[in-house]
Amino acid sequence: MCGIVGYVGTKDASSIVFEGLKKLEYRGYDSAGIASINGDLDIRRAEGKLANLEAKLREAPLEGHLAIGHTRWATHGAPIERNAHPHADETRAIAVVQNGIVENFMTLRAQLQQEGHEFKSDTDTEVITHLIDKFLAEGDELVEACRRAFGELQGAHAIAVVSKQEPDKIVTVRLGNAGGVIVGLGKGENYLASDIPAILEHTQRVIYLEDREMAVITAGGVSFSRLNGQAISKEVHQITWDPISAAKGPYRHFMQKEIYEQPQSVQSTIRGRIDFTTGQVSLEELPLTPAEAKAIERIIIVACGTSAYAGQVGKFMIEKLARINVLVDYASEFRYRDPLIDDRTVVLAITQSGETVDTLAALEEAKSKGAKIWSIVNMHGSMAHRISDGAILMQAGPEIGVASTKAFTATLADLFLLGMYLGQLRGVLSAEESFELATALAHLPELAGEVLAEGYNDYTKLANLYHKQEHFLFLGRGPNYPVALEGALKLKEISYIHAEGYPAGEMKHGPIALIDDHMPVVCIVTQDHVYDKMISQIEQVRARNGIVISLINEGDEEVAKKSDHVLRIPKAHPLLTPILSVIPLQLLAYHTAIWRGADVDQPRNLAKSVTVE
Ligand code: M6R
Repeated sequence: MCGIVGYVGTKDASSIVFEGLKKLEYRGYDSAGIASINGDLDIRRAEGKLANLEAKLREAPLEGHLAIGHTRWATHGAPIERNAHPHADETRAIAVVQNGIVENFMTLRAQLQQEGHEFKSDTDTEVITHLIDKFLAEGDELVEACRRAFGELQGAHAIAVVSKQEPDKIVTVRLGNAGGVIVGLGKGENYLASDIPAILEHTQRVIYLEDREMAVITAGGVSFSRLNGQAISKEVHQITWDPISAAKGPYRHFMQKEIYEQPQSVQSTIRGRIDFTTGQVSLEELPLTPAEAKAIERIIIVACGTSAYAGQVGKFMIEKLARINVLVDYASEFRYRDPLIDDRTVVLAITQSGETVDTLAALEEAKSKGAKIWSIVNMHGSMAHRISDGAILMQAGPEIGVASTKAFTATLADLFLLGMYLGQLRGVLSAEESFELATALAHLPELAGEVLAEGYNDYTKLANLYHKQEHFLFLGRGPNYPVALEGALKLKEISYIHAEGYPAGEMKHGPIALIDDHMPVVCIVTQDHVYDKMISQIEQVRARNGIVISLINEGDEEVAKKSDHVLRIPKAHPLLTPILSVIPLQLLAYHTAIWRGADVDQPRNLAKSVTVE
């Protein structure tokens, strides 16, 4: 979704802001712009990729030591230059960038037009510019005019404003959950960003704005207040990610880098949370007594996209290891269905970004109904992390590729640990069982490394054979059914091939009608308790001339003989197998997208943090 970057200090502001915007490209955008103050307010905007804005900046550079910039993901109005942010008022005295949606923009626009304001764009954002302009004309200073204007807005927003009349400051606000507003602290300079990677190379000291909090950022310092004007002091957080971990390194794409980082990220996720000599799990971020663990009657997992599929695997893990009933719901559905919740229910959000608006709304809904809320989250300090009663941090490091990969496997490792932790506290798991599970977990990073070893599976060849297909089917059972959903999601997201994931037993109830000799069917057939059932599904696909691509355990000759192609993974504990079985599917999608010439890291229409409904 949209990204915001701001800088005030002594350096060339527009270059710093432009570089910051480049680091936010992964969030997804379709136009961009920068406003700087250098005596006058000057703005450059361009539709399309940042290269277009860069060309404009080369032709006509922006001078000055204060600037704000924006990458826009269109909601109101086409992705054309006229609608790109920053938006200036008629006299070009102020400029505004915004993430989110002004829900009452039609009413505000009509009022402002009646009062004589002329709109130049089709955006909802422009009403903010005119509102501030109106209050400035009434004699307010910038901060007060912003405060009054922000107070008129409905919906969720992250906004930044600059003015040539008060050229030393950036005014910013967070209203609701339209993504983060992060202030970065420097020496004689300060920063603003919607996401940490934008400013990470300049500072690792950051302050997060909460709902209805404002900041006024100058080179010499930052002051914070609530929207009602009450001054507040804020905690400074130290980001532990190093700038290198947010860079592509030798890889061609972030997605590729993140796929190959999985042995490491799973290892980091497990490290320090389990004693491998006893199998005892300790989750410091989620301190629970045995009585509290025993009192939990139900866990409802709420999440979106890949995180929701991770949650579906988590259901198998937690139900098996802790014997707690688990329900998984899409956050976007949960928030509107008046869910049945009580104080014996835990609502667990899974969110890589910690800023997905539907997931945050689901957490709020659960909290208002008296549930305990927990989250599994990758972005330290994100909203989900901050509002939860307990949070497990993934330790996956920054995930930049829009298609989520290492966050999925890190989440599965966390869910497995959570299942063990609850199982131990509730007295479900014996010492021997805990030790066996811990041993299985300890081997996992190494097994993931095997799957990623050069030449282990030939993805390039397979992807080349089928990259022109229009449809794919993915089948799995048990915990591998959500992996089938995830495999299909990865393929459609980055290669734009239509793909469906199905519980294999459901194929005969409908999707079987689609199968002919043009339909590749990826069957996840690992050697577990539904192995024979999966073989029957393969036979049914073969009988209709479907192309069988089987994902098997190493050495499974029986299934290999029945398949047109095989992808292999080593054998692992059945509940941990999804952490391995998803990797070949990520790579199949990746190589298919490469053959199709698609933009792997920034697939069309998609955004990394979905901060609008
Ligand atoms: O940041 P979150 O985990 O809350 O994001 C949820 C989904 O938007 C995300 O997983 C999305 O489906 C990805 N593009 C999947 O690759």
